[in-house]
Amino acid sequence: MCGIVGYVGGRPCRDLLIAGLEKLEYRGYDSAGLSLLANGRIDSVRAVGNLANLRAAVADELDEGAVAVAQTEATIGLAHTRWATHGRVTEENAHPHSDEDGDVHIVLNGIIENHSELRAELRAEGHKFSSETDAEIVAHLIEGHYDGDLTAAVRAAFAELRGHYAFVAMHAEHPETLVGARNECPLVVGVGDGETFLASAIPAFLRETRSVMGIENDEIVTISPGGVEVTSAAGEPRSRELQQVTWDEEEAERGGYSTFMMKEIHEQPDAVAETITDRLPEVDEVDLSELSISAEQAQRFRRIVIVACGTSYHAGLVGRYAIETWARVPVEMDVASEYRYRDPVVGPGDLVIGITQSGETADTLAAMRLARERGAHVLAITNVMGSQATRDADSVLFTRAGLEIGVAATKTFTSQVAAIYLLGLWLAQSRGCIDRGRIAELIAELKALPRKIGETIESTDAQVRAVARGHYQGRFFLYIGRHIGLPVCLEGALKMKEITYIPSDAYAAGEMKHGPIALLDETTPVVCVATDSPVLEKVLSNVAEVGARGADVIAIATEGSEIVSEAADQTLFVPRTDWILQPILAVIPLQLLAYHTARLLGLNVDQPRNLAKTVTVE
Ligand code: AGP
Repeated sequence: MCGIVGYVGGRPCRDLLIAGLEKLEYRGYDSAGLSLLANGRIDSVRAVGNLANLRAAVADELDEGAVAVAQTEATIGLAHTRWATHGRVTEENAHPHSDEDGDVHIVLNGIIENHSELRAELRAEGHKFSSETDAEIVAHLIEGHYDGDLTAAVRAAFAELRGHYAFVAMHAEHPETLVGARNECPLVVGVGDGETFLASAIPAFLRETRSVMGIENDEIVTISPGGVEVTSAAGEPRSRELQQVTWDEEEAERGGYSTFMMKEIHEQPDAVAETITDRLPEVDEVDLSELSISAEQAQRFRRIVIVACGTSYHAGLVGRYAIETWARVPVEMDVASEYRYRDPVVGPGDLVIGITQSGETADTLAAMRLARERGAHVLAITNVMGSQATRDADSVLFTRAGLEIGVAATKTFTSQVAAIYLLGLWLAQSRGCIDRGRIAELIAELKALPRKIGETIESTDAQVRAVARGHYQGRFFLYIGRHIGLPVCLEGALKMKEITYIPSDAYAAGEMKHGPIALLDETTPVVCVATDSPVLEKVLSNVAEVGARGADVIAIATEGSEIVSEAADQTLFVPRTDWILQPILAVIPLQLLAYHTARLLGLNVDQPRNLAKTVTVE
């Protein structure tokens, strides 16, 4: 989740743009850059690392007297903070990107799904590329379509792109025009007095103006000092109201949400979409060529071992069910802090997967190194490019959730689960375990998940708030589930513990009668994950068991599954999808339950007591 900001107006904008980037720092980044247009010439400055490095690079440019950057009268420009997804963290891969002649400059947030085929076509037409990024494609496409009308060229380029993105373009021949386009990723306009901003989030210009206009999907927006023109991808004019934003700066950083955790819960559709988009270029094939593991190698893996900590461990547990069900290869799980000290039997022929969003968790890194020393192939699933995990692994599968500030992991969990679904399906495909038809079915379901996650948040939030109101003073929460529902329970209980400090436990529902059922009485809320699955009937018999002890059963069920709402006291429905994929939806109401319970208790959900976001100690 990169940050983009553009300005056109009457004021010198170099420092305005950098100030805008500073307001987007919370989105996380590994490099930054800006381009300024003056006297028909565009100059760019880019730097790896934080904005201080960019400021230093600008100062160097000033010393060398570079025109546009040096002359503070440049009153149009683009700027960007990059969270790398395609291409390493280098200056060449930092934005803005341009065409060969440097006439077209663009900044982009998101993912271009069909970048490989477009790059090949453009290369065949003689275009030369200077970066490894998917984004640079857009500058060359616009240049290819340009015949004096920048908006028309952007519209033509937009028509060729597939993916999940938003971008802004500038052309050396248009000192008073910036053109933006949106397909899923956010894009907003800030309207000032004789000046206009375009950005990926409101904080980028909130200090300068509170008059905001939202750009919808499949829209093109052309801004100039005095105006804004919004059109559809087909060119029809679109009218748009200006809204006045009343947020203070801190609220703005949280995107208008009261906490980072709630903002990140709402970012899950984007995080999952960006994690899967370009890995599913075909309708019936998963592309994980980035792992550099051949299908033959995948066929030779005799066992898979997943090591991780906390929430990442729970994502791994979901993965175990998916991989074993689809790829029919045995999967062993272990918490990393145990694995590294139990002298594990591991070696050549084993695929060891270390899951760690931060990429810096000491126990997980140590477990990965141990397995690698013993000859296993180590794969890291991580959210941070350049993290230690990427250096301690033979292959890396990046989730693309962007920076997560809330200590309680939410969007990194669902994007980890999405990543491990991709891996499970790719292993099954490479090992010839399931046919193309089934792969196509599952790919269609995977592609529908971002929308269904959004629907789940919208449809369950108010109901969950009511459930929390009924139980936030509870002494103990119990979560029960079976098969692939159990990891969801473990994650729900962890969220409840982390941010409410209420003792909470998750148990395999079939285990209840072997002891834990003794904990129950009429005051105990029992959260039961009862989404459709081959073991639903079994789960319902356990619901009857706990209900008989007077416990208040709150069930998570698949929409239309009336049999569950007849058995439970309260039922929260999530959209239907393939039963192996249900966990990515069923966890949402559990995240919200912990969240609203903590809020009702007046607790700080973003920074709970005794917890750090990244645990680098042994
Ligand atoms: C989850 O909400 C916690 N923040 C914690 O359990 C976390 O998942 C664990 O520390 C692992 O972190 P990692 O994914 O960065 O390795």
